[in-house]
Amino acid sequence: MNMDIWNELLLPSTTEDAAWELFHENSKLGRYFAALSEEQVVQKTKELHESLPYEGYPKVELPALLATPTSSLYETILNRVSVRNFAPRSFSLEEIATLLHYAYGTTRDNQGTNLPRPFRAVPSGGALYPLEIYFHCVDVKGLVPGLYHYNAAGHHIRRLSEGDQRKTIAESLIQPEVALESSLMIFITAMFERTVFKYGNRGYRFTFLEAGHVAQNMNLMATALELGCVNIGGFYDRDVDAYLGLDGIMHSTIYLMAIGEPTCSESIEGKA
Ligand SMILES: Cc1cc2nc3c(=O)[nH]c(=O)nc-3n(C[C@H](O)[C@H](O)[C@H](O)COP(=O)(O)O)c2cc1C
Repeated sequence: MNMDIWNELLLPSTTEDAAWELFHENSKLGRYFAALSEEQVVQKTKELHESLPYEGYPKVELPALLATPTSSLYETILNRVSVRNFAPRSFSLEEIATLLHYAYGTTRDNQGTNLPRPFRAVPSGGALYPLEIYFHCVDVKGLVPGLYHYNAAGHHIRRLSEGDQRKTIAESLIQPEVALESSLMIFITAMFERTVFKYGNRGYRFTFLEAGHVAQNMNLMATALELGCVNIGGFYDRDVDAYLGLDGIMHSTIYLMAIGEPTCSESIEGKA
């Protein structure tokens, strides 16, 4: 066969320097990966924050009693749908605490285990919990509108800045209307060092897998509370990192979620 015709029939060659391909190859587990000892892991973990402290910022204790939706897990999974049109909604602090706690809250202690941290609502590679959660809200009873950080270890939040900042957030999104219309915006960020110190490049993979667990819990709890929710990967990373005050390298935003009152045109399936 004429070589030119053959070359035309071939699929385009893979781009050898595509970042994802290089990354995937270099984050494969090998049998000779030199693992740290348990003591080294515990020691290093002690040097890192369990949750960022934000000492000095106004602190709000979250209610211990959380909302208890009545829909079953089965119904909740079937009802989950991405909602992108929102009406204004007022939240109670109990609802905010419920969303946060079931997404990434501390659920049991680690006494008697060889793992370094109290356990959370989601699985985490090595129980190292590299994620942080921030949220912006405009209408929560008992909270000043503004940007908050969730301290999972202490079940409290701290206000980092005050005021309705939806316009600033909207400018950082490919779909600005989602930020302008939703009453609650969740930011999942990653402190990569908390996991890559143990797992190397593979730890970077683990961070994103864990964010998926957190997001799914948040999506399901939002659905169970009859809220609308959409996950957002379409954001300008540098803008959001700058807004949250993150360096974008050691600590960077990886996933957003807009939550609010679903409008009739796009409400939770079965409840329209
Ligand atoms: C990683 C990820 C990123 C996403 N980013 C966006 C986004 O930026 N904007 C958006 O409108 N939907 C986004 N979505 C939602 C998907 O579009 C949606 O899940 C998909 O269309 C399936 O619809 P469903 O969620 O209603 O089942 C994202 C979903 C995932 C898992």
